[in-house]
Amino acid sequence: MKTDKIIEIEFVRRMSFRVIRTLFFWINNRVSMIRYIWLMTVLAVLNLPVRGESVALSSLDLTQISQGWGQAKKNLSCTGGKLLIAGEEFEDGVGTHAYSVIRIDLDGRADRFRARCGVDDGSKNPQGKGGTVAFRVIGDGRTLWKGSVMSVGDRAQHVDVDLKEIRQLLLIASDGGDGLNSDHANWVEARLEMASGLPRMVPPPQEQAIRLTPKPGPEPRINGPKIYGARPGNPFLYRVPCTGSHPMTFVANGLPVSLRLDPDSGIITGTTPAGGEYDVILTAKNNAGQTQRAFKIVAGDTLALTPPMGYNHWYAHFNRIKDAMMRQAADIMISSGMADVGYQFVNVDDCWMNAAGVSRYMTDETRVGPTRDENGNIVPNRHFPDMKGLADYIHAKGLKAGLYTSPGVSTCTGCAGSYGHEVQDAQQFARWGFDFLKYDWCSYSRVAGRDPDLDAMMTPYRLMGEELKKQKRDIVLNLCQYGMGEVWKWGRMVEGHSWRTSGDLGFELNRILDIALKNAALGPWNGPGGWNDPDYLQIGWIGAQQGQTFQPPHPCPLTPAEQYSFMSLWCLLPAPLFYSGDMTRLDDFTIGILCNPEMIEVNQDALGKAARVVRLEEEDTFLMIKELEDGSQAVGLCNRGECEFQVTATWSQLSITGRQSVRDLWRQQDLGVFTKAFSTIVPRHGVAVMKITPLQ
Ligand code: GAL
Repeated sequence: MKTDKIIEIEFVRRMSFRVIRTLFFWINNRVSMIRYIWLMTVLAVLNLPVRGESVALSSLDLTQISQGWGQAKKNLSCTGGKLLIAGEEFEDGVGTHAYSVIRIDLDGRADRFRARCGVDDGSKNPQGKGGTVAFRVIGDGRTLWKGSVMSVGDRAQHVDVDLKEIRQLLLIASDGGDGLNSDHANWVEARLEMASGLPRMVPPPQEQAIRLTPKPGPEPRINGPKIYGARPGNPFLYRVPCTGSHPMTFVANGLPVSLRLDPDSGIITGTTPAGGEYDVILTAKNNAGQTQRAFKIVAGDTLALTPPMGYNHWYAHFNRIKDAMMRQAADIMISSGMADVGYQFVNVDDCWMNAAGVSRYMTDETRVGPTRDENGNIVPNRHFPDMKGLADYIHAKGLKAGLYTSPGVSTCTGCAGSYGHEVQDAQQFARWGFDFLKYDWCSYSRVAGRDPDLDAMMTPYRLMGEELKKQKRDIVLNLCQYGMGEVWKWGRMVEGHSWRTSGDLGFELNRILDIALKNAALGPWNGPGGWNDPDYLQIGWIGAQQGQTFQPPHPCPLTPAEQYSFMSLWCLLPAPLFYSGDMTRLDDFTIGILCNPEMIEVNQDALGKAARVVRLEEEDTFLMIKELEDGSQAVGLCNRGECEFQVTATWSQLSITGRQSVRDLWRQQDLGVFTKAFSTIVPRHGVAVMKITPLQ
């Protein structure tokens, strides 16, 4: 009986399990079916493909597009007008502004890309001129299609490329070689024919910020220039840049008698001796070891025998700068180790003086007041109460002090300029003890007129240059007139030691490789005593100018590779090395970039040779080759492209033969001996720098 009961219960249990299971499958199938029907409806409504569909570029997520100005727009030009190319109107397309990159993941599931492209008619300015744009289609790093450079008014070009197997597609619109202005670049009627799946617009790849520069060891290493120019009879000041643990003691053999070296700080002071060359042997010693280095003092007329190095406040603090911030910058130049690799100048830019009134750029009333005293002397504003005290503070650290003004009545922010007071100002700057002057152009057009001839352009610089030279101080002069009148050809003639070759780099940060190429083309005018200046190093935390407002510092928009490229190129050109970020926010990564002594040695090389450029077959790659004093060459393997790329330098491109040792300067690592060529993978927008030395 008991057994029957158990069997009966078991039967009921099994039956109910079966019923429940059947019910579950039935419901589940219904749910799946419902889900399926629902999914199909959504796809149909959204018009998304399941298989073999044609997808409009304009239907993708346009917020992922990176571009030089503004934001990409769906079915409109980048300024919000209709999409118009040579009078032809397009309803469907994407309006961008060069330099723009559209990055699309296809996962190898696309068949073709078909589109038309051209410069938007709205890019024409009132003078009838418009932008020029070069369009390119790249698949997995290879150029699939390249159009001719297009101007406004050119009919839209047709693009039709095979995309089979391509995993990532890039649509690039770059400036046509004449800068970014008005480069409104449209991709219209652009469709991706998919074999299956969906295309996906994606942002540029994320990179990790890795410090390549090894930390300095405890043993002493003397850095900076091996040659130094100073004018006879003037005060001499030089702090021997040296890394290693402290305490450290310094000795200088062969130092002229008019100079003395403080053995604890390594600061050389005194009076520059009579004209001639003085070969000094510097020794630095600590409990980890000892090192020696030759250092040549050239007493003569020429300053800046190697590119000046230092800090300038502009791109970090703009019109917010104060005396205390400059003193802090000097403190940090020492504590961060920057001074130990050769940074020397601590330079105030605009806004240290009073402005005559409130203006667009000068809304801070605390900087408004009398611009000159009753004797015509320039009046610093209340944030700079003691200019001599500031210069003395910087000098006490063995560093040098720099200042800024303009030949016009006012500077670009409306502060007092030197017009009509040039002699008096030059004397004042020297009395205060400044060692560097950046001389702008701002408001000088009111004096020279809109279209000055060469002589009118040179006049203010000649005047200030000659006055500075008369002072009993060595004052390095930087001309900041944005490259007008091909300043590189005459900057030296007006006693300039460096000259800005273009406008503020602040607006062109993502084009540093282009800017470097433009500056490299001016190489013949670059060299000891006179340097092309492509503007300051802006990495780490920097501010930004937006219209008339100056933003506080924030992490710079450059990728880690771009930040390395910045420094690499400025070292190779070689350019003056002025850091213009927030000194209080220097992190380990940024210090690694700014303070690699082997890279800085390339910049400070005594030959002062400009790098020559060799274009490589793949159009986004090139070499920058700088001859060094010791018979070796520093070679930048550069990749301007949007994907990583293997870049090769052959010995014939470098004009060398035979066995050569190759050293990676960023990592400070010997990579071995090579006999014909050297290749390395260079990241997107990256530069690898190798020192290539012949083996005996
Ligand atoms: C600009 C100059 C900048 C900065 C600014 C100050 O003309 O290019 O570097 O000095 O003036 O107002």
